[in-house]
Amino acid sequence: PQVDRAQLSTLLEAMTRATRFYRDQLKQAPAAIEYLKKRGLTGEIASRFGIGYAPDDWQGLHQVFTNDYDNAPLLEAGLVIQNDAGRRYDRFRDRVMFPILDQRGNIIGFGGRVIGQGEPKYLNSPETPLFEKGRELYGLFQARQAIRESGVVVVVEGYMDVVALAQYGFNSAVATLGTATTATHIQKLFRQSEKVVFCFDGDKAGRKAARRALETCLDQLADDREVRFLFLPTEHDPDSFVREQGLEAFHRAIHDALPLSEFLLRELRGELNLATAEDRAKLVHEAKALIPKISAPVLQLQTIRMLAQDVDMSPDEVSHALGIRIVTRS
Ligand code: UTP
Ligand code: MN
Ligand code: MN
Ligand code: MN
Ligand code: MN
Repeated sequence: PQVDRAQLSTLLEAMTRATRFYRDQLKQAPAAIEYLKKRGLTGEIASRFGIGYAPDDWQGLHQVFTNDYDNAPLLEAGLVIQNDAGRRYDRFRDRVMFPILDQRGNIIGFGGRVIGQGEPKYLNSPETPLFEKGRELYGLFQARQAIRESGVVVVVEGYMDVVALAQYGFNSAVATLGTATTATHIQKLFRQSEKVVFCFDGDKAGRKAARRALETCLDQLADDREVRFLFLPTEHDPDSFVREQGLEAFHRAIHDALPLSEFLLRELRGELNLATAEDRAKLVHEAKALIPKISAPVLQLQTIRMLAQDVDMSPDEVSHALGIRIVTRS
């Protein structure tokens, strides 16, 4: 579709004004401030991430968009919704607001969290001309320098994970925001750093997200790239983990995270009983879906060697079974 620059800048300007409004509103919202404090956040971190508050008001944005409330941009920016009767109202009400920035620092979307209990827990901006969910990584703009300095980027699931890690002094985390990790995400991550650690929630959904991330990154691997997976205890996410165990423990966990090759083999092994020839054959069969996709030649060979040990075959036999031609010098 045609990108209309004038339209984009109008939308960006609306997002900037909305962010300013939400930030001002936070100062007058003791319950929201109390909530953020209870979650261990200081004003300094809240302000670094531009955190704000959308008031409990159907047309709160009317206060700053007095003459523009009924015009197209607020609707197109996903800030207001129009009902069937044509009446417009604020999408975000009584929520703590997390602005989502692109790599240049433009505000392109929001995530809004209910204060305390409520559904949905997070309400996100819809897809708009500014905001394409599968491309963006929350916190990347703030994290870029730290990623460069530390040489590693840590990928987490949620807004609060990124912000809480920063609160505790870990500044190299970004979040995928409820969507599965996409090939575009992986591209962006490797553009920032050769080393990527996925650290999703310890629950079932988090483990599934890790499996998806594994499959998605195989064809973007290179022998000078490193991908690891950190599995937190079941009841934890990075936010609760760093709060309970502290920064040092998180650093150690990152350092000890499972290398991709080991995670891949562990996933393949599943519940198989390698004492039987049938399950050893099944393991090699399952591997066909993943190992041929590894685009790092030496890592691929190394993974094949590990698999070969598991199934009591030679690496050449396994490669042959996987349909991979190993180039050897004769
Ligand atoms: P979680 O359910 O793990 O949320 O979803 P969380 O970050 O731990 O929430 P807190 O700690 O209770 O505040 C992880 C991410 O998935 C997306 C959000 O991006 C969230 O940060 N999500 C989750 C939604 O978009 N909508 C939801 O209703 C829930
Ligand atoms: Mn979760
Ligand atoms: Mn290199
Ligand atoms: Mn979580
Ligand atoms: Mn959480």
